[in-house]
Amino acid sequence: MDVLESIRKRRFHRSFTGEPVDEESLARLVWAAGRAPMGGAELVRRILVVTDPDLMRTVRQVTPSFLANSPVVIVICTDLGRAEASMGVQGRDTLSLVDAGAAAENMALAAVALGLATCFVRCANDVALQEVLGIPQNVRPDILVAVGHPAPTPSAPVKNPPAIIYRNGFGKVWNPPSLPLPGARAPEAAKAGASELFVSILYLVASARDCLDEPLIYGPFRMIEGVSRMLEGARDDRFLSRMKAEIDGQKYNVMADRGSFARWLDDLLREFAAEAKRRNAPAPAPAVAAVDGRGR
Ligand SMILES: Cc1cc2nc3c(=O)[nH]c(=O)nc-3n(C[C@H](O)[C@H](O)[C@H](O)COP(=O)(O)O)c2cc1C
Repeated sequence: MDVLESIRKRRFHRSFTGEPVDEESLARLVWAAGRAPMGGAELVRRILVVTDPDLMRTVRQVTPSFLANSPVVIVICTDLGRAEASMGVQGRDTLSLVDAGAAAENMALAAVALGLATCFVRCANDVALQEVLGIPQNVRPDILVAVGHPAPTPSAPVKNPPAIIYRNGFGKVWNPPSLPLPGARAPEAAKAGASELFVSILYLVASARDCLDEPLIYGPFRMIEGVSRMLEGARDDRFLSRMKAEIDGQKYNVMADRGSFARWLDDLLREFAAEAKRRNAPAPAPAVAAVDGRGR
């Protein structure tokens, strides 16, 4: 699989099957982590693979943000003494964290290619992890990477909002051209068969019928899902892309908590209303060149 395709496909999972990760895949993952660069090319990284079920359970119990039920976790650590000796305080406090992030992302992308799923988990409690896993005091656990086979019905992906990109100076926004993504579905309109627009319309028609018989709360969800589908075609619009990411991240909350879903819809509507105001405002008058007293 092409690396760009792995990047496109990567999403973090928090629901895994109980199936163990085979030894070859583990070996490939730690190889990928080891291929990540290290500041100063000094060997400060330590990689700890945890597969023992009792240890896994304990790691989860001492790490409250460990939501994933994965059978494996790979802990990326830094030898603080070596990091400081090679690159000073900056090496210990900053570069090593960048190194750990690079190693973790290498594994996350390799996992996609291996048909596995991952989730990063921040190390909230170094002391507890050091105790449970026998990590020495001068070694800092930087990031945990949960690894396993994704559940057949994964939780909804939480997608990052689009990156804010500048060019040739902070604040100078750059909107790179949107290019076709490797391995991505070709736009429906370009293919024979139903267009994306047709499929969205059909979804709305079928939903209108379903709404008559479904519980009332499904109605707002159907509409929001319809909006999300329509927004597929609006990738060039920064505001709408941001709204799509927001909607896709929150839409399933309708099932969990009706009150907070209603508040979220209010916030969403507020954002659209403010954007409508911006779009309907008269265009700013062109700047008038300064004229001197003699009319020049
Ligand atoms: C440094 C870092 C720490 C993270 N820590 C956690 C965590 O403790 N628990 C968790 O469930 N997800 C964690 N995540 C995952 C993010 O929440 C996730 O990247 C975000 O929800 C976007 O989802 P996506 O990566 O699937 O697009 C972490 C991600 C990063 C980069």
